[in-house]
Amino acid sequence: MKQILENTAMFKRERGSRTLLPLKGQTWGMIFAKSSTRTRVSFEVGIHELGGNAIFLSTSDIQLGRGELIKDTARVLGRMTHGCVIRTFKQQDVEDFAQYSGIPTVNALTDWEHPCQILTDIFTIEEKMHSIQGKVVTFVGDGACNIPISWAFAAAKLGFELRIAAPKEYQLPDEVLKRAGNGANIYCTTDPKEAAKGADVLYTDTWISMGKESESAQRISLLKNYQINKEMVSLANKDVMVLHCLPAYRGKEITEEIFEQFAGNIFDQAENRLHTQKAIMDWMTD
Ligand code: CP
Ligand code: NVA
Repeated sequence: MKQILENTAMFKRERGSRTLLPLKGQTWGMIFAKSSTRTRVSFEVGIHELGGNAIFLSTSDIQLGRGELIKDTARVLGRMTHGCVIRTFKQQDVEDFAQYSGIPTVNALTDWEHPCQILTDIFTIEEKMHSIQGKVVTFVGDGACNIPISWAFAAAKLGFELRIAAPKEYQLPDEVLKRAGNGANIYCTTDPKEAAKGADVLYTDTWISMGKESESAQRISLLKNYQINKEMVSLANKDVMVLHCLPAYRGKEITEEIFEQFAGNIFDQAENRLHTQKAIMDWMTD
């Protein structure tokens, strides 16, 4: 992670002037079973800027969408492409793809994880606050979705305090806490105000992740008190940074006022997806 974060700074600084093209002559597949703006564009641009060629493969266009197995798709792409970026539902599909394809495979979001996003978030925090070590990162919202889960795995590796405020129905899964281990400083609560007190970073995500649309009404009702708003910001550190992985739904997980107040940080965070993912692909093909 540290190597990727260091290289992210270099890719950001040297964008447009670097002549090293680690993906020169390569073609990368991009299998997407869910919608995407940031991840799709940043990977396509990133692959191009590293000298490679990207093929976008929506699952509604390829045979995967008609029931072909992931392990068969993987064995085909493994013979034709040099790397693959996958966004899908089941975490196991990404792991199976990596195993059966034998090529570098990037998790571009599953129901369970979003590692490229969280690496970017850490880079964005360190860009403004130096080291994340010793900082308090508070996630408010759906504590059982991919974003807080990937944050928990990051907390296991880097020395910061992670607080997750969520209703009891959407707490961080126990198995995640177990996998993160005792070395991870993670505090889970149902009290968003307690979690916001003295936080260096306040972070949120949509209450209705992709694939959960049928639960919208229940989620809006259970999560209504887990919003980043003026009061939450006033409880946090005075230099608090508000982050959002986007897309944002104003009036739900964040107010319009707070979103616009911190839009500078939030769109730096979005831009940093490009730089971080270039560093990830460079590291994978090293
Ligand atoms: N944050 C994020 O992954 O955005 P997209 O869904 O637009 O890719
Ligand atoms: N938790 C959200 C993240 C979107 C980037 C989702 O899975 O839809």
